[in-house]
Amino acid sequence: MDVIIFKRHCHYALIALVLINCVNLSAQEECLQTTSCSCETGTEILDLQPLSSGANPRFTVTGNYVYTYEPCVGITGGCGDEVTDVAVCQKSKQVPPAPPFVVGFQSKAKFIIDTEKNQWNLTYKNNKLTPVRTTRVMLTCVDSIEGELRIISEDKPEGEYMFELRSKYACRILITLSEGVSTGTILLIIFFVLVFCYLVGGMLFLRFVKGARGMEMMPNSEFWTDLPAAVRDGTVFVFKGFKADNTYEKI
Ligand SMILES: *[C@@H]1O[C@H](CO)[C@@H](O)[C@H](O)[C@H]1NC(C)=O
Repeated sequence: MDVIIFKRHCHYALIALVLINCVNLSAQEECLQTTSCSCETGTEILDLQPLSSGANPRFTVTGNYVYTYEPCVGITGGCGDEVTDVAVCQKSKQVPPAPPFVVGFQSKAKFIIDTEKNQWNLTYKNNKLTPVRTTRVMLTCVDSIEGELRIISEDKPEGEYMFELRSKYACRILITLSEGVSTGTILLIIFFVLVFCYLVGGMLFLRFVKGARGMEMMPNSEFWTDLPAAVRDGTVFVFKGFKADNTYEKI
């Protein structure tokens, strides 16, 4: 393989890498869960912790069953045989009462974001039962309410429970630069600083050490002039499933 072809393949690899990274970044709409009841994206944070400091369990609602819900820690005393890690407990209203069921464990807490509807849910599971119990708590931001839980649906479909939590703590707080710079922002700043050093440093080096003038002062000018073609080839390369087009080798 001669040098030109080798360089072409390096360009392919580099551009494929950049494209893959871009795709990864755009698909990332998950939030980073910091505790079982708080989550943050690069720009927003939601934390239900203040709701947890009151009575334990914090919420009790009644429908076909009586449910107790504790957003951040395990319910004190557990739920039936489950002593720790209980987030949502379902108790029967029968007399004498049937044993209660855990319909969500704290350690299975997961935030689900619907970006289109701008809706955040906090979901729980109990995989130990059949059918698996799933509880979805719809988080609704209401500034004037400390915290209120209501039942949306029970056991519809079987094993699935839906609640709505209306609270001022269900409001997302925008992360501003002064409160904390996100990792993404820091990486971006480092990137631009490096680009700046590369351009200015490169130009100074080429001018004063190599005596370059005008466009020749552009660092790696050959690479940058080749870039548009390389981007095109790289894209083709990725979409063809990483099979190198061998036209260059034929030339
Ligand atoms: C959030 O919860 C509500 C009510 O439980 C449900 O209708 C909605 O589909 C859920 N959204 C997501 C993204 O899970």
